[in-house]
Amino acid sequence: MSNVAKHIAMIMDGNGRWAELQGKKRVFGHEAGANVVRDITTYCSKVENIERLTLYAFSTENWKRPKLEVEFLMKLLNTYLKKELPLYLDNNIRFEPIGDLSGFSKTLQKTIADIREKTSTCTGMVQSLALNYGARNELVRAIKKMNAQNLEITEDNLTNSLDCSQEIDILIRTGGDHRLSNYMLYQASYAELFFIDTLWPDFRPEHLAEILEQFSSIKRRFGGLN
Ligand code: FPP
Repeated sequence: MSNVAKHIAMIMDGNGRWAELQGKKRVFGHEAGANVVRDITTYCSKVENIERLTLYAFSTENWKRPKLEVEFLMKLLNTYLKKELPLYLDNNIRFEPIGDLSGFSKTLQKTIADIREKTSTCTGMVQSLALNYGARNELVRAIKKMNAQNLEITEDNLTNSLDCSQEIDILIRTGGDHRLSNYMLYQASYAELFFIDTLWPDFRPEHLAEILEQFSSIKRRFGGLN
């Protein structure tokens, strides 16, 4: 029987290099990357069985970047979310951010809350943007939540206290590096990992289709024998 991918997560790396290779500023690559987010989201929403697509858009460590790049990314996120509402509604996609949103400006928090509310009745795929997200930060917040609710420390309670409770089937990183960069370390426990050299702005649905094809025949044992 072939595997079915319900939850796909992506580390969208390579925007800066893509722009620099063309002699352009790094932010040009982020802009191109936002278009790929739209195309890949639309594609995934039409693939049978994909329930959730989680994209690493801004990490808890990305604040270390130059101020101008951070400001550009904040603006880009805000514009993207405002502009792409039809993408969510036309494709029945629900938007569910993960991460510590309290780190963002009130304006961006409002845009995020707005799109979340406006797509809350969509019943198709969930697109989850990881925003001011770090797996260590998520785990600490989850444990604090459990503590505040006097919850017993069990795997079930911890899973349900995380920003995202659904385990990942496929984790893709573009851009050539082979690391997880503090991304969904708990949910990726049994994910199949795909590291590809393609830079994010060049990533196309055809690349994903090929990965889905490879994934379908992998023997997943989850620690067992079959
Ligand atoms: C990594 O590339 C990418 C990011 C830190 C940000 C991801 C942002 C986008 C894909 C565009 C905006 C997203 C949305 C949802 C509107 P990098 O800058 O580290 O590239 P490099 O490794 O070549 O330097």
